[in-house]
Amino acid sequence: MADITVRSMRFSFEGLNLDRPDAELAQIMPALGLSMTMPYLEPYLIRSMKVALKQIDDPQLAEDVRNFSKQEGHHFRNHAELNKQIRSCFDETTADRLRGIEADLEADYQRFSRSKSLRFNLAYAEGFEAMTCSAALASAEHGGFGDDVMMPGGDLWAWHMAEEIEHRTVAFNVFEHLVGSYPYRIAVGTWSQWHYLRYIGRFASCMTESLGRKLPRVSSPVRKAALKRYLKTWSPRYDPAKIEVPAGVQALLTRFSHEAGIEAR
Ligand SMILES: [Fe+2]
Ligand SMILES: [Fe+2]
Repeated sequence: MADITVRSMRFSFEGLNLDRPDAELAQIMPALGLSMTMPYLEPYLIRSMKVALKQIDDPQLAEDVRNFSKQEGHHFRNHAELNKQIRSCFDETTADRLRGIEADLEADYQRFSRSKSLRFNLAYAEGFEAMTCSAALASAEHGGFGDDVMMPGGDLWAWHMAEEIEHRTVAFNVFEHLVGSYPYRIAVGTWSQWHYLRYIGRFASCMTESLGRKLPRVSSPVRKAALKRYLKTWSPRYDPAKIEVPAGVQALLTRFSHEAGIEAR
């Protein structure tokens, strides 16, 4: 059974400032795009897990799934608050364009829940989790979250990414338990990552254009490390349970447990 703590956290996002140099803005735009997807992506994962729960006959895995869903529930509620602040940084036309992209994403996920098979939805979930966990691990390994830029949303990112690492085995174990096909995991997982990243791109382009900026391509040690970790998820031997968690993640999780009023176990 995974060691997952559900922390009920609420962050405050007053005074978001996007008036930053190009290089800095180029680093934070993908994170803003990611935040915009969360109130749609994470409820979709929760819906898929709710269906999976009916078929899971391992009580420990079922408990992991319930904790996974509770963590994701707290994540997207905070991102929804952050997203209100993000929209408010833009004029009404841009805010409406952002809402239009949000509606497209929500329509896709509602359609997947309604008409795709459980094995598809579980492979999507694992594809997403494997990719974001790779990015979270790479950030942790380089000593921080969000490179060395002050991220809009502050500690939300460290908390969210640390919990993504904490529940990294759940979507994989559910997929293995109920589906267990390596080619299917790779085929649908890779498609899901493409589908998801396209939306990040749409959100980021919409915001960047509206600011009248042309941002440089950024490369950083964290991004290179994330790509290296991501490529390992394609291995038939990939198993998130075998990942060595970088130093500092546990301390972060313990700090957030304290902040959530939970005593260390
Ligand atoms: Fe999450
Ligand atoms: Fe997650």
